[in-house]
Amino acid sequence: MKGKVEILFGAQWGDEGKGKVVDTMGAGVDVFVRYQGGANAGHTVIADGKKIIFKLLPSGMLYPGKLCVIGNGVVLDPEQFLKEIKELGDRGQDRARLVVSPHAHVVMPYHKIFDKAQEAFRGKGHMIGTTGRGIGPCYVDKYARSGLRVEDLLDESRLREKLSVILEEKNRLLTKVYGENPLPLNEVYEPAREWGKALLHYVEDTTALLHDAVDEGKSILLEGAQGTLLDIDHGTYPYVTSSSTTTAGGFTGTGLPLTSVTRVIAVVKAYTTRVGEGPMPTEDKGDVGTRLREKGGEFGSITGRPRRCGWLDMMALRYSMRLNGGGTIALTKLDVLSGLGEIKVCTAYELNGTKVERFTAPLALEECRPVYETLPGWDEDISGCAEFGALPGAARNYVRYIEEAAGAPVSLIGVGADRNQTINRGF
Ligand code: GDP
Ligand code: IMO
Ligand code: MG
Repeated sequence: MKGKVEILFGAQWGDEGKGKVVDTMGAGVDVFVRYQGGANAGHTVIADGKKIIFKLLPSGMLYPGKLCVIGNGVVLDPEQFLKEIKELGDRGQDRARLVVSPHAHVVMPYHKIFDKAQEAFRGKGHMIGTTGRGIGPCYVDKYARSGLRVEDLLDESRLREKLSVILEEKNRLLTKVYGENPLPLNEVYEPAREWGKALLHYVEDTTALLHDAVDEGKSILLEGAQGTLLDIDHGTYPYVTSSSTTTAGGFTGTGLPLTSVTRVIAVVKAYTTRVGEGPMPTEDKGDVGTRLREKGGEFGSITGRPRRCGWLDMMALRYSMRLNGGGTIALTKLDVLSGLGEIKVCTAYELNGTKVERFTAPLALEECRPVYETLPGWDEDISGCAEFGALPGAARNYVRYIEEAAGAPVSLIGVGADRNQTINRGF
């Protein structure tokens, strides 16, 4: 019997609560896979009252006996990778077995310098608000075919030779274009050689391993990072990240075929947040935004930046469901809406006096104003609710409203950050 391949994506601008949903599903999963992005992700898991934020490692790492995979589509920051493994070790936590694709590209120190220098170059009004983790410059090198892959770190002489050619060009750019200091070869080579030694234990042909896992009938979960609206092609370009964050990225980023997927899971936050620059029609800069930020603890898990907050945007959600192939919805942070009074939902945009009823190209999106429908709210604390029937009527109504508007069932509902604060509704 063929295995189960489930793919989970963020339906908005990231930070939907993907980490928690992956962790909640953990017991039934054999193999957890990251397939795109890098240490720009921040996936929070709270288990037994302890909080852990996974940046590069899959959120299934807390499950001993399971397998965690970093696929070829990820850009791997070795410093961050080793730091996260050490942190898990220091906590004395049992961990899943971890394997890394030799074809994952390596985020090098110069990528982080370029990331910050390019942001400064773009300047106010044009900067993207990146995480500064070197993600964009690393993917640029991948496509320019001048990147280093994990396999390159494993062979000292090849590494030195490749690096010397790469640095020749990088140093010219650093000094002549960006006014930065050049990086001496040895300063980059020595740590990279050490990273290679440390990574050696983890490197395996992850594509073959995943193909075998499917043939062996295993349950595989592909964990998307970021969110659909940050997708390099389909997001709010240029205010996006540099990878394919939609489900499509799961295939190139692992080598698993399209036809292997058995279920698509959309992680949807009960309201909208965004961190970094770019259009967000439902952003509320007033009281509602502040209350959502405070109640929802909406501060970036990587950079600590306050997240921009606002009501749920149905235009964006429908677009996202169509792009990713729908599936079932895991609705998170419903508890945050308790006590907010009436709840609003954006059901259309107004653009130059015209009503627009579908998600709009990024350039026009800047000019779009949200048109809201108002729904009744609820005051009760729902963080202890274990069943759908225990939720107040208005909360159940809101869930049904989302199902109808998104055209997909809400089968999992988050009512708190802990692993156990989850309502299963036929997930
Ligand atoms: P991710 O990047 O999609 O994994 O999301 P983040 O971890 O960056 O942000 C989600 C935040 O919300 C984290 O602090 C989670 O602990 C928290 N969270 C997740 N689900 C829920 C929920 O249902 N209710 C509440 N109150 N918090 C949640
Ligand atoms: P998770 O996986 C939210 C945003 C950055 C910036 C843009 C580009 O936790 O949902 P980058 O450093 O990737 O070049 O930055 O993308 N961004 C995220 N926003 N959640 C994330 O990850 C993000 N990863 C990147 O804030 O606007
Ligand atoms: Mg996050």
